[in-house]
Amino acid sequence: METITTTPYADQKPGTSGLRKKVPHFQQPHYLANFVQAIFDTLEDLEGQTLVVGGDGRHFNDAAIQTILKMAAANGVGRVLVGQGGLLSTPAASGVIRGRKALGGIVLSASHNPGGPEGDFGIKYNIANGGPAPETLTSKIHARTQVIDAYRIVHADDLDLGILGSATLGPMTVEVIDPVADYANLMAQLFDFERIRALVAGGFRMRFDAMHAVTGPYATAILEQTLGFPPGTVVNATPRADFGGHHPDPNLVHAKDLYELMLSADAPDFGAASDGDGDRNLILGKGVFVTPSDSLAILAANAHLAPGYADGIKGVARSMPTSAAADRVAAKLGVPCYVTPTGWKFFGNLLDADRVTICGEESAGTGSNHVREKDGLWAVLLWLNVLAARRQSVREIVHDHWRTYGRNYYTRHDYEAIDAEVAEQLMFDMRADLGTLAGQRYGAFEIAAADDFTYHDPVDWTTAAKQGVRLRFADGSRIVYRLSGTGTEGATLRLYIDRFEPDPARQHEETQAALADLVAIADHVAGIRARTGRSSPDVVT
Ligand code: G1P
Ligand code: ZN
Repeated sequence: METITTTPYADQKPGTSGLRKKVPHFQQPHYLANFVQAIFDTLEDLEGQTLVVGGDGRHFNDAAIQTILKMAAANGVGRVLVGQGGLLSTPAASGVIRGRKALGGIVLSASHNPGGPEGDFGIKYNIANGGPAPETLTSKIHARTQVIDAYRIVHADDLDLGILGSATLGPMTVEVIDPVADYANLMAQLFDFERIRALVAGGFRMRFDAMHAVTGPYATAILEQTLGFPPGTVVNATPRADFGGHHPDPNLVHAKDLYELMLSADAPDFGAASDGDGDRNLILGKGVFVTPSDSLAILAANAHLAPGYADGIKGVARSMPTSAAADRVAAKLGVPCYVTPTGWKFFGNLLDADRVTICGEESAGTGSNHVREKDGLWAVLLWLNVLAARRQSVREIVHDHWRTYGRNYYTRHDYEAIDAEVAEQLMFDMRADLGTLAGQRYGAFEIAAADDFTYHDPVDWTTAAKQGVRLRFADGSRIVYRLSGTGTEGATLRLYIDRFEPDPARQHEETQAALADLVAIADHVAGIRARTGRSSPDVVT
């Protein structure tokens, strides 16, 4: 064991989902080791404990895991469970932490951000419930990074993580586990695999795009080898360190091939994709994209069709910028709908306290109490279970949902890599103007209320302030402005627009056209284009 002297890096503050930086940034001397030691220093009672380690296989995953293992051994950890090849999808890691009663885990991923030697990398700590560390813990870790002066590591050869089974590293045991097995068992308990198999046997077809990311092996094992979809159903199924040079982001831009297939005459019945680390999902039917906000609402309304949720759901939670579609499902079911800040960690307390069963975010994240992360493949399997039970097309299910509950036209516009000062100033000015906005009229739209969202956690009564500026209009429409907490370059301004349309005769307009007035108002109020010099957003979802 060796103790290595180090000096702090000022920029190790974890964001929405852990510490995210470019790979070369992580490769600076001691950069990763400092952060890992800060985690270990913050956790009490590491002695003899079990930790789970794995990642999405992106560039630097392997090297980072070898360092983490050697540091864990030097810090008294008893046992580390690591996915074969260093792989564990984020939801699978959450499941392994819970299922095997580990103290916690270190998850390596930059989610849907590009990989490769110049791409992004990320690290976060998950606690014993399987979920991301709450703010109280991440701020302690951050504080520790600011004063760290040494880290501990053992000298040893790198372990071969390709071989299943146990090895030792100094006094510590390393168990290389099958990354898929625990997860596949959990899915088999939640869903009616027999019914889905019958659907597939009846000729139902799908395509799953794993985007050269971590869900390839999971989707192949479950969809093809277990549920009977023909080989080739899962495409881009081999995880690669650079995701084949693509962004492993399951949206209509980066999963364009899949989207085009689903719009074409040869479209299969169902199309889906997941991101770099397997926690996000994209849901498509023949000629139809299901927005994540609608998907959350539809899954909440239909979850009882799957065995794991047959007794009904306790409640729903959505992040604040997510559309209010889920709220109306909860109201109809007579269960609460909680509104939380952006980021999955805010769902943890609600799930642990059994106040909610299903949660979701507009950013393609949906999940349930089965783990403490959002779960891309889970959402796909729940959709399959619902499709198998209802025997309707995706389009019929979506339209039926709108007729019953009303439709929320919804879009998000992202202005990426803008000047950080410009972005901060925009938010600062919006906050300063909040008091003057209510009562302002723009054509048919009148601002009824304006605020900056503050969350009061109903379980532990912690608060999270400054979570996004909201303009609420008299007709129920809404505009939200917030800055991303996951970007690695400059600042990203996210603009979220939501308009409720209860009239079935007016639910079939093109989304951007239906929201054009509100988009113009959003720009007018905040001066986005004038301040950023951009004439349009970089990404529209
Ligand atoms: C983004 C999403 C957010 C999600 C997070 C991690 O964070 O908006 O919903 O939880 O990625 O996947 P943001 O960049 O907006 O802070
Ligand atoms: Zn992700």
